Amino acid sequence: MRIITLDGPAGAGKSSTARLLADRLGWCHMDTGAMYRAVALAALKRDVPLENENELAELAASLDIQFAHDSVFLNGKNVSAEIRVDHVTTATRSVADAPSVREEMKKMQRGLSKKFNLVTEGRDQGTVVFPHAELKIYLDASPSARAARRYHERVEQGDKSRSMNEILHSQIERDQGDRERPVGAMEAAKDAIIINTDGLSLEKVVEQVLGLAHDRGLTSD
Ligand code: C5P
Repeated sequence: MRIITLDGPAGAGKSSTARLLADRLGWCHMDTGAMYRAVALAALKRDVPLENENELAELAASLDIQFAHDSVFLNGKNVSAEIRVDHVTTATRSVADAPSVREEMKKMQRGLSKKFNLVTEGRDQGTVVFPHAELKIYLDASPSARAARRYHERVEQGDKSRSMNEILHSQIERDQGDRERPVGAMEAAKDAIIINTDGLSLEKVVEQVLGLAHDRGLTSD
């Protein structure tokens, strides 16, 4: 099947781009951040200690994670909202740091790629999980633009619990963790095309990626 990878830091616009792109192409959108978040949510619910790598990996392997209608389902339950609360975001870091959890996630992600054409977003999709993807994009943006995007998304959902500045600081901290993890660190693949989304509308970014996909013959059946 066909694959476009979209990697990059939080708030660069990966999810909206991936969603619209998948929609335009008639492909599936795989949100791998949501998969790590779902494992963290399950660990919190089942009291699996976040420092116990073996137990976390066993848990990850046992979960059924699926995507449908822009939502993520954990063992059949829609957990799209629950996985985005702040304490789950914090726990996700430990889950994503564990190399054996990453192995399980890689298996699951490659498994889905055998069944569906994918627009997949994350941190390590073009580097580790799909090094042979036909098109790799790394979406970046300035820290202030990324914090502003996330802040406005939260406000739209009625959540004003954190200021833009607080979001900026937690994003910087999260990016650092994502860049420094020994396995699956966030980085642009050598053959990725880097798009800085500062000042670009979602439509423009999607148009640019669709143009690249077209040039590589990915849009023809
Ligand atoms: O994309 P999102 O911000 O929802 O991802 C949540 C966290 O999951 C990231 O901060 C990162 O630590 C982890 N993650 C990862 N590898 C991926 C996707 C997400 O380590 N492919």
